[in-house]
Amino acid sequence: MPTSDVQSPAVTFTINDEPQKVLHRLSPDGASGDVSATTSLADYLRFTRRLPGTKTMCREGGCGACVVSVRVPDPTTGVMKTKAVNSCLVPLHVCQDWQVKTVEAIGDRKNGYHPIQVRLAQLNGTQCGYCSPGMVMSMYSLLESRDTLTKEDVEQAMDGNLCRCTGYRPILDAFKTFGADADQKTKDMVKDIEEAAGCKSQSGGACGGGGGGGRCAGCPRALPMSSGEAQWALPESLAKLYAAMAAVPRGRTLRLVTGNTGSGVYKHDGPFDSYISTLKVPELHAVSKTAEAATFGGAVTLSRLIEELQLLAPTAGFAHCRQMASHLLLVANTPVRNMGSWAGNLMIKHAHREFPSDVFLLLTAARAKIVVADAQGAAEEMDVETLFKIDMNRKVIVSLKLPALDDNYIFKTYKVTPRAVSAHAYVNAAFLLPVNKDTMTITEKPTLLFGGISKTFVHASATEEFLTGKSLLDAATVSGALAALQAEVVPDADPELSATEYRASLTTSLLYKVILYTLGDRLPEHLRSGGEDITRPPVVGSQKFDTDKDLWPVNQPVPKLEAQAQTAGEAEYINDQEALSDELHGAFVISTVAKAKLKGVDASAALALDGVRGFFSAKDVDGTNNIKGDKNPEELFVSDKVKYCGQPIGVVADSPEIARRAAALVTVQYEDVQRPILTIKEAIADGQEIKPDTMMHLEINTGENVDEAIAAAPRQLSGEFQIGGQYHFYMETQTVRAVPREDDQLDLFSATQDIRDTHHTVAKVLKMPAHKINVSVRRLGGAYGGKLAYPTTVAAGAALAAVKLNRPVRIVLDVEANMEMFGGRLPYLVEYKAGVDETGKVQGLKMRYLCDAGFASSATTTFSAVSMAQNVYQATNWTVVPGHVNTDLAANTWCRSPGTTQGVAGIENVMQRIAHELKLDPWEVRKANFFKPDTKFALSASDEADHAVFTQMIDEMFTEGQIQQRKADIAAFNQANRWKKRALSLVPLRYPVHLWAKYPALVSIYDLDGTVAVSVGGIEMGQGLNTKVAQVCAHELGVSLDMVSVKPSDNLISPNASPTGGSIGSEMSCMAVRDACQELKLRLKPFQGEDKAWIQVVTSASGAGVNLSAHSASRRRPETYNVFGLTAVELELDVLTGENCVRRVDLYEDAGQSLSPWVDIGQAEGAFVMGLGLFMTERHRFHPDTGKRLTNRTWNYYVPTLKDIPRDFRVKFLKNNKNDIGVFNSKATGEPPLCMTSACLFALREAVASARNDAGDAAWFDFDAPGTVERAQMACGTSLDMMVVA
Ligand SMILES: Cc1cc2nc3c(=O)[nH]c(=O)nc-3n(C[C@H](O)[C@H](O)[C@H](O)COP(=O)(O)OP(=O)(O)OC[C@H]3O[C@@H](n4cnc5c(N)ncnc54)[C@H](O)[C@@H]3O)c2cc1C
Ligand code: FES
Ligand code: FES
Repeated sequence: MPTSDVQSPAVTFTINDEPQKVLHRLSPDGASGDVSATTSLADYLRFTRRLPGTKTMCREGGCGACVVSVRVPDPTTGVMKTKAVNSCLVPLHVCQDWQVKTVEAIGDRKNGYHPIQVRLAQLNGTQCGYCSPGMVMSMYSLLESRDTLTKEDVEQAMDGNLCRCTGYRPILDAFKTFGADADQKTKDMVKDIEEAAGCKSQSGGACGGGGGGGRCAGCPRALPMSSGEAQWALPESLAKLYAAMAAVPRGRTLRLVTGNTGSGVYKHDGPFDSYISTLKVPELHAVSKTAEAATFGGAVTLSRLIEELQLLAPTAGFAHCRQMASHLLLVANTPVRNMGSWAGNLMIKHAHREFPSDVFLLLTAARAKIVVADAQGAAEEMDVETLFKIDMNRKVIVSLKLPALDDNYIFKTYKVTPRAVSAHAYVNAAFLLPVNKDTMTITEKPTLLFGGISKTFVHASATEEFLTGKSLLDAATVSGALAALQAEVVPDADPELSATEYRASLTTSLLYKVILYTLGDRLPEHLRSGGEDITRPPVVGSQKFDTDKDLWPVNQPVPKLEAQAQTAGEAEYINDQEALSDELHGAFVISTVAKAKLKGVDASAALALDGVRGFFSAKDVDGTNNIKGDKNPEELFVSDKVKYCGQPIGVVADSPEIARRAAALVTVQYEDVQRPILTIKEAIADGQEIKPDTMMHLEINTGENVDEAIAAAPRQLSGEFQIGGQYHFYMETQTVRAVPREDDQLDLFSATQDIRDTHHTVAKVLKMPAHKINVSVRRLGGAYGGKLAYPTTVAAGAALAAVKLNRPVRIVLDVEANMEMFGGRLPYLVEYKAGVDETGKVQGLKMRYLCDAGFASSATTTFSAVSMAQNVYQATNWTVVPGHVNTDLAANTWCRSPGTTQGVAGIENVMQRIAHELKLDPWEVRKANFFKPDTKFALSASDEADHAVFTQMIDEMFTEGQIQQRKADIAAFNQANRWKKRALSLVPLRYPVHLWAKYPALVSIYDLDGTVAVSVGGIEMGQGLNTKVAQVCAHELGVSLDMVSVKPSDNLISPNASPTGGSIGSEMSCMAVRDACQELKLRLKPFQGEDKAWIQVVTSASGAGVNLSAHSASRRRPETYNVFGLTAVELELDVLTGENCVRRVDLYEDAGQSLSPWVDIGQAEGAFVMGLGLFMTERHRFHPDTGKRLTNRTWNYYVPTLKDIPRDFRVKFLKNNKNDIGVFNSKATGEPPLCMTSACLFALREAVASARNDAGDAAWFDFDAPGTVERAQMACGTSLDMMVVA
């Protein structure tokens, strides 16, 4: 293709002010460089430019880890504009004239940190830190692009950045300090923080070459790159674009590229032979307005379109633009909208008709016209819908004309989504109703459009006809229209989507909603809120705790040790380590069916691929092909029987792209393929025997004759309750580097929570002596239990390939592979039967906690569930038993508060049920069953002091949280509103902590300056373990905190360490450090003297030959202690759609005397939001035939975003409450709050129950977790006859 006729031969741009040059075509000798046609800006930054501060995770625009800031010239004016973009979606070849800025450039340890980095770190906005650079760069782009900001601007701009650790509140608080609406107290506080941190001014620049922002003589100059086989063109006018299209020879595939964000939705379209970017074509970026219409070029981004629509809205005839803009703010997220164009969106739908395009609905309803031109420049104007009837090959959408609408039109659109933002619609709708405002008559045919129904359904044509000429005030119009709509909507069934019944029901609800909206004040008051949307005001909150200065630095609120490095992108994760020159990349071949026999594996096509170095499978394993113990073996690679879809069959090694392509080329044949069992109920129906817990078989038995006690009680009830699974969603996916060393040794850099397991498993698989393997872990980019059991798979796979090839091998799983290969939190089925008296007091109770272990039984967690079943209650005549079944799914595994969460949710659901049956307030039922000062818990410790703590907590919550008043307000609200419901639910907690782990620790004092280095067996994964360790060490040795640094963990200092988990990793690592410090103090004692400074003591001791390094290890302790908590969740539900908003949460916890209060507040908030996901938004779906996990990406698996968190979030730790079993009186904090998050589900359930009551159904209903928007709406029991207007 003679692309040189229409373009320059290279792309030039800057990264942190350093010039870059990338050639569009092969170099003359035909050699290809590091850069291919599809190389993303993210990969170029990380691997070619060695700027690993920018992270990647999803590579589809869904997580925000890769956000960088770019200044891009507007092709119409040449003016540079700053915006945040997802560097994973930006093809390097479109960056012509861009100025790219990465987190390294805005501030670093040499030149001073940027205020954004400082405030995020100092205000506790980072935990594992993996999301932090993306967060910083989103905020930086916002600051650079606006003169002034409000808190709402900040929340809006951060909607594309996910964080699994913090729960978002501290991030938002840190960034809102930049708002013009920040109060004086906040401004003074940040001034102090910045002065103390010595941060640089906002506009200050630093060197670009080494990581700063300015250019310096030392920076390397531009470097030409080759783009490989495919070709790029960046025409600079519409005429040149036509010429470039015409120049693509017949038979070669062409992709027009505007924002390239479509490749985030449909990842596997392409590859293409030719790419033509529209970004430099001025005509396609033009915007013009007249009184009759506004016109937007085809490359206008969604962000620009929103801005222009907002400006247009006050103009006569364009009021509907306000609604269009607010709907577009729900499309994708800010960085995607900053690049993605409206035309690209339409073209995605053109290629994939099932795509629930919001843009298509909005433009069609607004009667927009578009102009399409072919390669000869022949242009045609058409309706948006006509676009889908024409062949778009070698054609471009040039512009859009949005006509003015007169005041008689009601323009209203809806988007019902599984979470608040950054999600595609279950169903979206756009309505244009021509209405006579006096008679409320539809004067001409209205437009009723729906998305998410099927590939072909768009217009509700029969309903449009029906409504024409009728008055909405007439009850028959409303009922007739709803019936007509119900008859004509037939959603496609798709296992990946929500139920067809739900989507059908949403269409009628949305039509009714728009009727209510249109009628407004003409409606009876109790119906009006049905016409309003759920609102989400900016987040506010409070964090309350005590601190005792006498103990400092222990108990001192300090930022995390690594926080500053994390927010500046300086903190290193394994995939940030520079590759050795001969390093290879591995990718797994995984099974595509769940239950079958492996017939054959043919890797020849993969091995023939240029650069592929090998394929290794079960037959290549020299040791044992088992990554677990002998009791519950699990194969590393399938040798015969496939156990689940996604099971590893082999590993190939080369560059990341080639390894992935090669893995796809390996063909696997199966025989005896069977339909999989996917749920606990299916397993039981299949006749599977219930198995005991394989970890520890715990039971509660507090009565001889439980059946008799239940039968003798005044009331009996029974039922079941299900809680779904949960993917951990660590932002750093499973990652490892295996590097062969001299003397047949192997270095393993593994993202593992369990050094010992990884070490031992690799040794067994490779048949290597343990002492030849060196495992080290610096930090993890999130884990939540997901890096306990299965880092062994990736480590053993990489190690096997590395040893066979004698080359370093790196494996970084992509998000789909990660989600398909490994299980997550275990789904539960809780069965119960209870006898109660009229006060709700339980007379006898039988419960069975059943979990789905997946195909293997190595991490059944029912022992934890059973241990929590008693929670805060007296248990007389209780029998609680565990059990598990196996399904044909990946083995499920530990996930933050494993089993304990389901244990509490199970018994709390029983309390809800009792309250319902007896028509009592659920809190009164709980109170009737509370433990007493002399209660002895069945499976753990208790004493009178515990009762006092618990009672105090309740008193404080009820007083400060005004619980009774709020409940009364809610009751009044529900009475007054048919279509919006509120509820407040309280869940109490007793969380027994067992100190079971062994973590070694080494503390070394240097006699040069008295500084101290520590390494512990507990792994830092965001929970602040290192910070607490340093605080304890500094306190014990009597030095300042900055004299202590914490080094990576490894299996030399910490051989045979316990896994880090169960909330005790920090505490027990601190125990080991405290003991080592005490040993050192003993050794130093003889050298102490009055007025002798620390350094003098150290040097004298060292001079006398004293060993200044002490090793210790924490040991299992026999005692347990209880953590108490109480959480109140208030929520509002939209009955018609199921959407809801958590309005307020009060979370009280007894953290003992917190070792590090800010760290622990962060743990509480993060745990709560993870639980919010478990109980509300995170739902897995599997293919019924293959067992494939269909929810395997950010596009379809919904962890909470910042808009989903409580709008008012108040966290309080009880006044320092001594705990002499913990280190320095501390208590565990990482997991207990999650155990109270079922309060979200129960609040939702109560709101639903109120709607059902109005619908005339007061009976109990099962409401399983997660309480998705879909489940909530379906449970409300709304039928068409209830949708009235009078
Ligand atoms: C994480 C994520 C979430 C999203 N959520 C939503 C959502 O909730 N609702 C929704 O509606 N959309 C959603 N989208 C889709 C998003 O709006 C589109 O990806 C974006 O608008 C596409 O524009 P683009 O410029 O990036 O197109 P590109 O990716 O550049 O191109 C997409 C297609 O359009 C073609 N094309 C581009 N420009 C033109 C043109 N001028 N003329 C002819 N063909 C052209 C391309 O050849 C390609 O086939 C989401 C996307 C992502 C990544
Ligand atoms: S890696 Fe780019 S958005 Fe997730
Ligand atoms: S700190 Fe945000 S994902 Fe870990």
